[in-house]
Amino acid sequence: MRIVTVLVFVLLLMHRSVSLSSPQCHSCEQTSCICSRQNLTTVPAAPPKLITEFDLSFNRLREITRNDFVAFTGLRSLILNNNRIQKIQEQAFVPLTELEKLDLSLNRLVTLSARWFENLLSLRHLNLLGNKYTMLGEGNLFQSLKRLKILHFGGPSLQSVRKSDFSGLSGLEEVVFDGINLQVYAEGSLKQIGPMKYVTLGLNGTFCRNKTLVGAILSDVVHPNTTLTFTHTGFFSEDQMVPFEVARNGGTTSIIFKNVNMTLEACMAFLYLMSDSNLTILVLEDVKFNLRHLGHRGYPPHMDRLETLVLKNLDVPQFYRFPVLFILAPLLNVVRRVSVLNSKLFLIPCKSSADFSKLEHMDVSDNLLSDLTLSEMMCDGRGGLWSLQTINISRNHLRSINSQLFTKLNKLKNIDMSGNVFHRMPETCDWPPSLQFLNLSSTHLTKVSTCLPVSLRILDLSDNALTFFNVELPFLTELHISGNKISNFPDGDLYPLLAFLSIQNNDLQTFSSNNLNDYKNLKSLEAGANPYVCSCDFVAFMTNYRVTFGDEFKSYVCDSPDAVRGKSAAEARLSVFECHTALAFSLLCSGILVVFLLVVGLCHKFSVVWYVKMTWAWLRAKRKPKLKKGDLEYDAFVSYSESDSGWVEAHLVPQLEQTEPPLRLCLHKRDFVPGGWILDNIMDAIEKSHRTLFVLSQNFVRSEWCKYELDYTHFRLFDHNEDTVVLILLEPIDKETIPQKFCKLRRVMNSRTYLEWPDIDDQIPRFWRSLRTAIKRPNTDNGNCLQFDNVDF
Ligand SMILES: *[C@@H]1O[C@H](CO)[C@@H](O)[C@H](O)[C@H]1NC(C)=O
Ligand SMILES: *[C@@H]1O[C@H](CO)[C@@H](O)[C@H](O)[C@H]1NC(C)=O
Ligand SMILES: *[C@@H]1O[C@H](CO)[C@@H](O)[C@H](O)[C@H]1NC(C)=O
Ligand SMILES: *[C@@H]1O[C@H](CO)[C@@H](O)[C@H](O)[C@H]1NC(C)=O
Ligand SMILES: *[C@@H]1O[C@H](CO)[C@@H](O)[C@H](O)[C@H]1NC(C)=O
Ligand SMILES: *[C@@H]1O[C@H](CO)[C@@H](O)[C@H](O)[C@H]1NC(C)=O
Ligand SMILES: *[C@@H]1O[C@H](CO)[C@@H](O)[C@H](O)[C@H]1NC(C)=O
Ligand SMILES: *[C@@H]1O[C@H](CO)[C@@H](O)[C@H](O)[C@H]1NC(C)=O
Repeated sequence: MRIVTVLVFVLLLMHRSVSLSSPQCHSCEQTSCICSRQNLTTVPAAPPKLITEFDLSFNRLREITRNDFVAFTGLRSLILNNNRIQKIQEQAFVPLTELEKLDLSLNRLVTLSARWFENLLSLRHLNLLGNKYTMLGEGNLFQSLKRLKILHFGGPSLQSVRKSDFSGLSGLEEVVFDGINLQVYAEGSLKQIGPMKYVTLGLNGTFCRNKTLVGAILSDVVHPNTTLTFTHTGFFSEDQMVPFEVARNGGTTSIIFKNVNMTLEACMAFLYLMSDSNLTILVLEDVKFNLRHLGHRGYPPHMDRLETLVLKNLDVPQFYRFPVLFILAPLLNVVRRVSVLNSKLFLIPCKSSADFSKLEHMDVSDNLLSDLTLSEMMCDGRGGLWSLQTINISRNHLRSINSQLFTKLNKLKNIDMSGNVFHRMPETCDWPPSLQFLNLSSTHLTKVSTCLPVSLRILDLSDNALTFFNVELPFLTELHISGNKISNFPDGDLYPLLAFLSIQNNDLQTFSSNNLNDYKNLKSLEAGANPYVCSCDFVAFMTNYRVTFGDEFKSYVCDSPDAVRGKSAAEARLSVFECHTALAFSLLCSGILVVFLLVVGLCHKFSVVWYVKMTWAWLRAKRKPKLKKGDLEYDAFVSYSESDSGWVEAHLVPQLEQTEPPLRLCLHKRDFVPGGWILDNIMDAIEKSHRTLFVLSQNFVRSEWCKYELDYTHFRLFDHNEDTVVLILLEPIDKETIPQKFCKLRRVMNSRTYLEWPDIDDQIPRFWRSLRTAIKRPNTDNGNCLQFDNVDF
């Protein structure tokens, strides 16, 4: 006992010490542990299962030791950003041969060591941004990372980049290089990697300080297939833009400015520099745009190859100065795709939009356009924008559906008007016949009308307030009506080509294969998140579904009946009663019938009714005051079988009633009250008689009534504890041959002596004498001490 206590104590202590040294992370699910923001100071212990993702970001780790990841050999992703890591022991990552992603950004690493990465043979993604190192280790830092595809490095402290830093990195596809304070760059360093798909440069300070250095970096990375992104940089002056000449000469086709401050002057300088270049995609995202200084050139740049212009989340404090931008109008007549997203755009004058002669795709979603300014932008539907195929005016401030604006655009295929506030649609509309896609989701529509163009292939009306949908659209292949209040499955005959239907989150209570059979081409249905009534048919249908459900099967949840509410329709188990009511009901009824018949049969077999009645009669008799000896009406009640009536009438009655002194017998034939219940009569007769005479014969044994008489007398025997029974045996009955059910008779025969009807004639008088003695009422009070046993035979 004591040993056990000590053991438990030791175990507790061990557990204590283990949990003290390695805290537990309680956010592990399946194969991932997301332990960010838990104020951890050391790496938590591994859970007892294989973990492939481990997120320790935003904690307080200071050091990574070589034992920290020994138990995490299966790790694919290790996220350690935003800690306070200063030191990593050289063997710390040795166990992580499967690791594909390692994020060490925003820590306090002062030196980097090539030894860390020696075993990371699977690593594809490495992030070292935002640390305190001034250079990339001792050189050849990434030599062993043969599989590396994405590399993020640099930070405010990075001073110099040497040629040996990137040796061995040949398959790299993406580089993010933060060289905000870079002083020294060895020419050709990044070039040895070869052309990369994406290069992101954060060179704010360097752009100001040493343009030669920026140019050196650019000339190493520019390539026609490389998308150049400039980030976290301020572009204020014309001469800051000089290094872009390198991009131009290198044939750069895509340039993105993301998260930059830019003056119109710098922007114009950039555009002039890129005049006649191969630039095809220009993106300005999260840009603070200063319109104050235009610069000194008054003629437009020339950019024949520009195809795509994206302005996203543009912040233009001096938006009222937008007319200065009209100088760029000639630039626009070549672009094919323009997006101005979430940039507080409220007007594009008809004069400018008419310049977009090649524009195919126009996306002005998330802006401030109103019915009026949209009308101006579309030149009131009179023309311009002749090549337009797609227009996205979602999430503006439109209040009405004005199809007239688009009628003449005979190449227009797609209109996205979602996220405006229409409430209703006109009864008829005038769309271009080419229109195939219309997005009217989240527009507060309460009903649809024939305004919907018949030519539509794809229609999105989700997240409105529709209660039904019934407009015939013969070419429709895709219909989105999720998030409405539709309670009936749309009629499939109206949409013969429909292949995809999404009707989630409505008021649909059920649907069946009949509904779906009307859709001749339906391939995918999304109808989850409706308040389904899980009837047996519905559950059966869901269990053996024919169509492919596009959404998660478990989103088909029963809303009723109560027993299965919240359960998935495919898993709901309904009782047999609910599913086969008629069958179950008839089974139940026949069951009851069978039991009933069985009970009746049993009652019949065991004469239960009779016994009950008899018990009742006996109880009644018991409560009646007992007749006094003098009140007895008969000397004997004779119980005999009908077949023995000959003997009774020929011998017994004359012998006892007609010879002196006469005895009064009770015979059921003669003395029973006609019409009275036979049992009452029997009992009455027995009550009123001094003795009960049983004429026993084979026939008696066969007669049911006699059996009852015997039964009742037997009852009485016990009740009064007196001998009232006289047995006459007409013919010999072997007691053993009496059937089991006459056990009473057997018992009576066993316990009593009986008078036998003699075969020999000269014994007959003696028989009568004995019988008279047995029946005769005594005149004295002690008459009841007369016992059968004392009768002299
Ligand atoms: C971490 O520490 C901060 C401040 O000490 C506290 O506000 C926060 O609740 C802690 N978070 C956790 C998960 O313990
Ligand atoms: C600018 O960078 C180049 C290339 O790294 C270097 O040769 C030059 O000395 C730098 N100039 C200044 C003023 O730092
Ligand atoms: C650019 O990439 C395409 C395929 O992505 C390739 O066919 C082409 O040769 C590449 N151009 C250059 C100059 O490498
Ligand atoms: C842009 O200017 C704002 C102040 O107007 C400044 O807070 C921000 O840091 C600047 N961003 C860049 C990328 O220079
Ligand atoms: C970029 O440099 C300019 C001037 O050198 C400075 O005003 C601005 O704050 C810097 N921006 C960032 C994001 O460092
Ligand atoms: C621009 O592209 C054309 C053909 O696509 C090519 O011949 C030309 O060399 C490119 N210009 C530059 C500067 O790379
Ligand atoms: C229109 O813009 C919205 C918001 O940016 C976007 O979700 C939607 O996909 C766009 N529609 C088309 C047809 O490009
Ligand atoms: C319709 O627009 C909404 C909101 O912009 C978008 O989420 C949805 O994907 C669009 N529908 C289609 C079919 O593109």
